[in-house]
Amino acid sequence: MKTIAIISALESEQEYFREQFNPIKMDKFNHYEIYVSEFEDKKIINCVCGIGKVNSAALTQRIIDMYNPDLVINCGVCGGLDKSLSFDEVILADKLKYHDINLDIFSNNIPYTDTFEADPETLKKLDEIMTQENLKHRIGLIVTGDQFISTTEKQEELFEKYHALGTEMEGCSIAHTCYLNDVKFLVIRSLSDFADDDADDEFYNDLETKTRKAAHSVVVLIKNM
Ligand code: ADE
Repeated sequence: MKTIAIISALESEQEYFREQFNPIKMDKFNHYEIYVSEFEDKKIINCVCGIGKVNSAALTQRIIDMYNPDLVINCGVCGGLDKSLSFDEVILADKLKYHDINLDIFSNNIPYTDTFEADPETLKKLDEIMTQENLKHRIGLIVTGDQFISTTEKQEELFEKYHALGTEMEGCSIAHTCYLNDVKFLVIRSLSDFADDDADDEFYNDLETKTRKAAHSVVVLIKNM
């Protein structure tokens, strides 16, 4: 049986999964409530990690140690950096980078690298399924840092530097932890805001509908795996 772990920063980013998968048990571990479901022929692990790089890396390691997943999916919302995106598009990260560390002289140090690549086969499959089902999406870089980006100046600076589609606060640290453990991963994010001067207000505006776009893509993938 394949095991797929789905990790999100916020409770609201996980609600859809609990409705879809009907968990059979909840494992409590320190601060975490980890939901375990059996869906078709797969075991699904769902958990909220909290915001930021340390929270997300710590939980990812714990989930890998406890459940040995075949695939880890980080699902939630992000701030759009590419102004041509729209709220109905889902970003599938093919690569993740940190935007808040400087690795200039260390970038060749193994096992630390500064770019982490999502599992190409699963990404391709998801791209095909979403195209077939008319679910709007784009594939590209997501950059992660311990900052909620909420000024147009910083948004433009990040876009100029990385040409990333979006920014958030957990994807790269989850990817990094998976990389260190040789576990496949995907990062799937819908847009909650555009990381600009309006981001603080925009973030909570109909957040449920926005989070569900990414979550629905994950469920579609799992049904087709
Ligand atoms: N997650 C969602 N929106 C974000 C933003 N603007 N900056 C960082 N993380 C985010």
